[in-house]
Amino acid sequence: MSEILAIYPGSFDPITNGHLDLIERGSQIFSHLIVAVLTNLDKDPLFSVPERVEMLREATHAIPNVSVDTFSGLLVDYARQKQAKVILRGIRAFTDYEYELQMALMNRKLEPDLETLFLMPALAYTYVSSRMVREVVHLGGSVQGLVPSLVAERLKQKISQVRMETAKSRS
Ligand code: PNS
Repeated sequence: MSEILAIYPGSFDPITNGHLDLIERGSQIFSHLIVAVLTNLDKDPLFSVPERVEMLREATHAIPNVSVDTFSGLLVDYARQKQAKVILRGIRAFTDYEYELQMALMNRKLEPDLETLFLMPALAYTYVSSRMVREVVHLGGSVQGLVPSLVAERLKQKISQVRMETAKSRS
């Protein structure tokens, strides 16, 4: 197979087992996969970019052809700079499709030589999202089996840190 470099972009706030499943699948298709964390998020993230990168690195350290990086600005510019041929994205349910299609077509308009490839995660993760994981932990529920155990631990720490900071700012 020819050498194909792919980029798996996202916010990864935090990485879930669904992301990890996709990374493992992607690593078996491409010669190298860069997991790229967007740094200029509009959303108010729970974890800082360095924290997200650290968790991604820890979760993927055993996969030799996967690296973790950050990017800002247009994804197509970053892909060009890395000489990547493919953008990898996951589609869980039908509801993901519209947003993903728009994004893929916009990226194709901006850079016609860059292909977007969609993969489905394992069925067990089709309902898992970072947003829901954050919400469940925030409300005291367990996310065991949905995120790597190191992430579950960091989530608990982060939520209690956020709670303490909120309580302090109110007193
Ligand atoms: O995990 P997410 O939040 O669904 O990832 C979205 C991401 C980071 C892939 C997307 O927002 C992105 O590529 N942003 C970079 C800006 C860009 O290139 N926009 C034009 C294409 S929509």
